[in-house]
Amino acid sequence: MILRDFRLRDAPSVLRQVQENFAGEFALTGFDPAHFLRVVEKTHRGWIGMARRVLQLFGQTPARFLIAEESGELRGTTLLTLQRGHGYLSMVMTDARYRQRGVASALLNWAEQISQRRGKRYVALDVLSGNEGARRLYGHRGYRPIRRTSSFVRELDGKAPSGPSVRPALSSDIPFLETVYRRRIPDPVREVMPDGGSSVLPSRWLDRILLSESEAWCLGPEGRPTAYARATFTTPREAGILSLPYIAIDLPPADQRTLVEAALAWLSVRRTPRAVVTLAEGNEPMRLLVESLGFQERWSTETLAKRLTASS
Ligand SMILES: CC(C)(COP(=O)(O)OP(=O)(O)OC[C@H]1O[C@@H](n2cnc3c(N)ncnc32)[C@H](O)[C@@H]1OP(=O)(O)O)[C@@H](O)C(=O)NCCC(=O)NCCS
Repeated sequence: MILRDFRLRDAPSVLRQVQENFAGEFALTGFDPAHFLRVVEKTHRGWIGMARRVLQLFGQTPARFLIAEESGELRGTTLLTLQRGHGYLSMVMTDARYRQRGVASALLNWAEQISQRRGKRYVALDVLSGNEGARRLYGHRGYRPIRRTSSFVRELDGKAPSGPSVRPALSSDIPFLETVYRRRIPDPVREVMPDGGSSVLPSRWLDRILLSESEAWCLGPEGRPTAYARATFTTPREAGILSLPYIAIDLPPADQRTLVEAALAWLSVRRTPRAVVTLAEGNEPMRLLVESLGFQERWSTETLAKRLTASS
């Protein structure tokens, strides 16, 4: 078996296999593999492709799409993104005809080695709570749960309600938001992901690469906001994502609602059929808020992490 980086000619077989292997997952999450492939192709063409190759030459590329191949055929994949403090894995899959032969294990090994060479102390991933086969594999390979999250979905009826007026998040809000947000990340998660796995302000260049649009809003004084929400929307994805809704503890519930309603209105204007918000287990105030806004819990995932040691 050969382990190597993705090449453009892999695109058709990768697309076919991710569609087969993640059909149930995509139906739940609204993720569109064709869109994912378009993003991957974009990072392999033109100036972005050139920049990626230069970064890879210096061992600094932010992501690597890893392929296992045998007899010229695709056997398995995983996407490794190098984030603060950890390597993050997604799209771990093996062709159904070649399972239980160590394909995924070989890809995990390689991803762990790359992460370690890049100075990361952990590799992390999210697995659907019901995916017993994958959980067993990760468990046997030393991956341990660090948090449980639930994802809530609300269908948007396509009409664009005029949202309440809220101000955009500004760069002067970042230090305060980051401090408050980090304080709220539970210790085991902070150890693996110092920033909780996300940044506060949308990145315009990342949006360009990911073919997405993002916006963030705050309530309260500049530099010391009382509430924050962010929304992301990608054209071919069947859901807009509301993320990181940080709300100050003493904020009146009506204000909390205002902010999330503004984010929902922003998504509706973009004709997003539904909105998804993912909350850490135990975030009861936010659960109550999103449920009161018509969101329903649809799936839950576990974030697993493996500490990399010299023998990894
Ligand atoms: C989960 C998944 C990636 C595992 O891929 P895989 O290539 O079969 O994984 P491996 O062969 O490396 O390991 C699977 C099991 O086979 C065992 N195995 C590995 N080589 C073996 C061999 N030569 N003979 C017999 N068993 C073997 C492993 O020990 C492992 O056992 P365990 O689960 O009890 O620990 C695959 O089932 C899949 O693609 N599922 C659908 C997509 C999915 O759910 N992905 C995970 C998203 S988080």
